[in-house]
Amino acid sequence: MMRGISFFLYLLGLVAVGSHARQEDALTRLYNAKSNRMAEIDTNFYNELRVIDESKVIPQEGLKEKDKIEKLPGQPYVKFSQYGGYVTVDEKAGRAFYYYFTEAEHSQQSAPLLLWLNGGPGCSSLAYGAMQELGPFRVTSDAKSLYRNPYAWNKAANVLFVESPAGLAHTILHHNKKANTTIINLKGIIIGNAVINDFTDNIGMYDYFWTHALISDESIENIHKHCDFSPSNVTTQRKECVNAMDEADANVGPIDIYNIYAPICLSSNLTTKPKKPSLIIDPCSDFFTYTYLNTPEVQKALHANVTGSLNYTWEPCSDILTTWGDSPSTILPLLKEFMANGLRVWVFSGDTDGRVPVTGTRYSLNKLKLPTKAKLYPWAVKGEVGGYSIVYEGGLTFATVRGAGHQVPGYQPLRALTLIQHFLDGITLPKAQS
Ligand SMILES: *[C@@H]1O[C@H](CO)[C@@H](O)[C@H](O)[C@H]1NC(C)=O
Ligand SMILES: *[C@@H]1O[C@H](CO)[C@@H](O)[C@H](O)[C@H]1NC(C)=O
Ligand SMILES: *[C@@H]1O[C@H](CO)[C@@H](O)[C@H](O)[C@H]1NC(C)=O
Ligand SMILES: *[C@@H]1O[C@H](CO)[C@@H](O)[C@H](O)[C@H]1NC(C)=O
Ligand SMILES: *[C@@H]1O[C@H](CO)[C@@H](O)[C@H](O)[C@H]1NC(C)=O
Repeated sequence: MMRGISFFLYLLGLVAVGSHARQEDALTRLYNAKSNRMAEIDTNFYNELRVIDESKVIPQEGLKEKDKIEKLPGQPYVKFSQYGGYVTVDEKAGRAFYYYFTEAEHSQQSAPLLLWLNGGPGCSSLAYGAMQELGPFRVTSDAKSLYRNPYAWNKAANVLFVESPAGLAHTILHHNKKANTTIINLKGIIIGNAVINDFTDNIGMYDYFWTHALISDESIENIHKHCDFSPSNVTTQRKECVNAMDEADANVGPIDIYNIYAPICLSSNLTTKPKKPSLIIDPCSDFFTYTYLNTPEVQKALHANVTGSLNYTWEPCSDILTTWGDSPSTILPLLKEFMANGLRVWVFSGDTDGRVPVTGTRYSLNKLKLPTKAKLYPWAVKGEVGGYSIVYEGGLTFATVRGAGHQVPGYQPLRALTLIQHFLDGITLPKAQS
């Protein structure tokens, strides 16, 4: 870990997999697993202590240079360095995390370090965060080359993408406390379109559907009347509730629920010639990324699948994990813990995401009952309203990103970069002038 560098943790609630034919909705799978075995959900998860055994930390010399990525196939020239490779977690068990690191474009030494983790659950930070959201490159529609994302977040920070380790911020706080010193100077955490509190998230999703004209009056009335999403009752929904939810799903129809106003992907085929590079992610970009990252030369350049012995294709979301025993029904206690430890906590929400929508996020944050420091106001970027923000006492900022779906930086790159820049600088978003 780089010394003296401020460390920010970024967590995205989950990623859009709706347009990907191979993928189920990973979040729905999680909810189903949870609601079938709700009694076993361990809400003490946050108290679990993981202790680092210092004797098992292997020497680090030369590892960074070894992981330097010379150039990715089809990549345009860039001035910053990139690294990728595995961090061994348990050699005997063959367990390792894959990481991809892009240095900041300017002032690498003084720029903060931002860790990006995608949710899913089980989805890849490389597939989504790096290649379809905030990374420096996007994959062309022929899956043969890369083009620059002009609003990549390594304009503002050194960005580290890691494949889904759990419970990280809490672990860092714990180790700092245990060592009675700042091992990792964790400064803040920002989460976007994230599952926060099942009860309010669920109702919020259906209320979003209705307020955005996706479901009928009867559907929402029946859901309100017959469904009980509270943790103690979620497993025993009445028949009327199940019917109402089924009717709502049928009402919504085949839209991209992760961005309700976006076009859907109509063909998984690559194009023979690359389409004109687009600032906003293509609805089919999952397929471009899938093919690119499964190209042997690309894996070689990324120092991934080094032994070549992984006898399956790389997938953007893993469906290996199908049973979940350690997913709490709420992370509100975690947010409180972060605030109590003086961390900067931001929650943002792309306001056209229908799957983990702004409505649910607002209901969930309202559960914290925090006093307001700055009332809701429109925030500005380049003369436009980028979204709306509220600042709460206790170190919490909430901001919407106007016109962004679930993968916020993929749909509103400039607004997302503005948001992250302000988060990193620790300043509130500028107010739009009327
Ligand atoms: C933690 O460190 C501070 C000073 O650095 C010291 O005063 C304090 O006694 C330490 N606490 C424990 C529990 O070791
Ligand atoms: C939960 O279920 C119990 C028993 O079925 C019922 O008495 C209670 O009212 C329900 N809770 C809510 C909030 O509806
Ligand atoms: C996709 O590719 C298949 C196989 O090459 C072809 O049969 C099909 O017509 C293509 N679909 C579209 C929409 O181009
Ligand atoms: C790893 O590389 C081998 C050989 O190129 C390839 O057959 C396999 O699909 C790759 N595994 C993954 C997970 O991409
Ligand atoms: C992949 O390799 C593992 C271990 O070498 C083996 O157990 C498994 O059956 C293989 N799977 C396929 C689909 O070949």
